[in-house]
Amino acid sequence: MSQTPPRVKIGIIGGSGLYSPDFLEKVQEYKIYTPYGAPSSDIMIGEIKGVKVAFLPRHGKRHSIPPHMINYRANIWALKEIGVERLISVSAVGSLREDYKPGDFVCTDQFIDMTKRRELTFYDGPVVAHVSMADPFCPELRTLCIASAKSLGITVHEKGTYICIEGPRFSTRAESRLWRSFGADIIGMTLIPEVNLAREARMCFLNIAMVTDYDVWAEKPVTAHEVARVMAENTEKVRRLLVELIPKIPEKRGCQCARYLDEALL
Ligand code: ADE
Repeated sequence: MSQTPPRVKIGIIGGSGLYSPDFLEKVQEYKIYTPYGAPSSDIMIGEIKGVKVAFLPRHGKRHSIPPHMINYRANIWALKEIGVERLISVSAVGSLREDYKPGDFVCTDQFIDMTKRRELTFYDGPVVAHVSMADPFCPELRTLCIASAKSLGITVHEKGTYICIEGPRFSTRAESRLWRSFGADIIGMTLIPEVNLAREARMCFLNIAMVTDYDVWAEKPVTAHEVARVMAENTEKVRRLLVELIPKIPEKRGCQCARYLDEALL
């Protein structure tokens, strides 16, 4: 393991099924210390077509950390520490509508937070921040992601409201009906507080959601085995999308993601 990590502007947080950066070249691992403790694993840094990229598996290298136990603050802090400005989060999600099918991708554009017991901010006082979340995802990265998926012939839904539940259990049928009535399109357990913390860290944030199941509102209730199986069948598509997308990301940011914090601090 190397000592001092290089500066890296693009980061990927891999979700269920995406534990290794085998789509990167020249990978090296770095241990990063943070005021919040250890991130989910060492940070792996490699390259795609000459562009440096950092990779962190959200659930650990062997999927040993459940959604409610992930040290989200340490993960975002560690990526910020090495210079990450553009963060791509990949997640497995359930679908709350018929036309978002297992194997489809969703470029999430909104979220609803139903989590209950997570550390949601870097600003616990005395400094207080209320960041704007009206538009949680980077418009520049979303446009590039949708275009890249289409160019590869991957089915991608350009919008989707992600409802984040606390987990680790799945929803009841009554809850699933409620989420649908809220207008949510997809459901997962890990978007919150990753997206909030990234904004506080002045990062751009993109969520690539991969549909693995129809949750429990349809006939057959989701199981963890089903999620893992569909994710395993589709991770190759995620890798191809990342390899297509990342070299297209401009070095200089044309969005306002870095500036939200300026209007947030009291
Ligand atoms: N992740 C994948 N499928 C899910 C579901 N149905 N509910 C919550 N998280 C999920």
